[in-house]
Amino acid sequence: MTTRQKFIAGNWKMNASLPANAALLGALLEGLRQQPPACEVAVAVPMPYLSQVQQLLAGSSVRLGAQDVSAHDAGAYTGETSAAMLRDFAVRYALVGHSERRQYHGETDAQVAAKAERLLAAGITPIVCVGETLAEREAGATDAVVARQLDAVVQSLGAAAAQVVVAYEPVWAIGTGRTATPQQAQQVHAVLRGRLAAARPEAARVAILYGGSMNAANAPELLAQPDIDGGLIGGASLKAPDFLKIIEAARA
Ligand code: 13P
Repeated sequence: MTTRQKFIAGNWKMNASLPANAALLGALLEGLRQQPPACEVAVAVPMPYLSQVQQLLAGSSVRLGAQDVSAHDAGAYTGETSAAMLRDFAVRYALVGHSERRQYHGETDAQVAAKAERLLAAGITPIVCVGETLAEREAGATDAVVARQLDAVVQSLGAAAAQVVVAYEPVWAIGTGRTATPQQAQQVHAVLRGRLAAARPEAARVAILYGGSMNAANAPELLAQPDIDGGLIGGASLKAPDFLKIIEAARA
């Protein structure tokens, strides 16, 4: 993806089955055939379905994504999936540091940075997720939290930091129906953009996606903000008509 091209990515989370995936992608690809997208589109799917979704997406412009990756290259790490394995299934993007992994699996900033490194070494673009909890926002710590999470990755990647995608996902807006206002989101995106530019001038053009209850109704205004380059969509990516409307909103 060229940097700062609009980018709409779906994160299916732990929602999938063989027939549901075929139905969802059938409807999505048919919609995109009728109205080809003006932006990069990807779906991040659960690991067991990589092969199925790779085949369903073959010949389309929709890219395959994963939701996580191991911080290790190979070896005795039961249950983990390496970046090289993802590469075998033509995975283009993988989320790292999603708040659900930080919250429920204790992922640290250092682990997130290591995962991003493994992905880049395998030729896969990391989508580095950052975001504050409600308590952190209410304590006025939003900027400090997202800066800390981003800096950990940028510092460990060095010049390669310009090759990532960043997703700002306020934890309080995920799956809650409570979206950040376009102004709240833009403010944090501008902080992230400033941070990237200060670390590496070339990283100022990294795409920064917004995620957290983005839907067909609120996408146009969010995507119109100067530093919002796209969306990372959870719930609404599971409904083809809604996801298609968000992809369409990225055209403007
Ligand atoms: P929702 O769109 O369901 O709020 O999820 C956002 C998200 O976490 C995407 O990674």
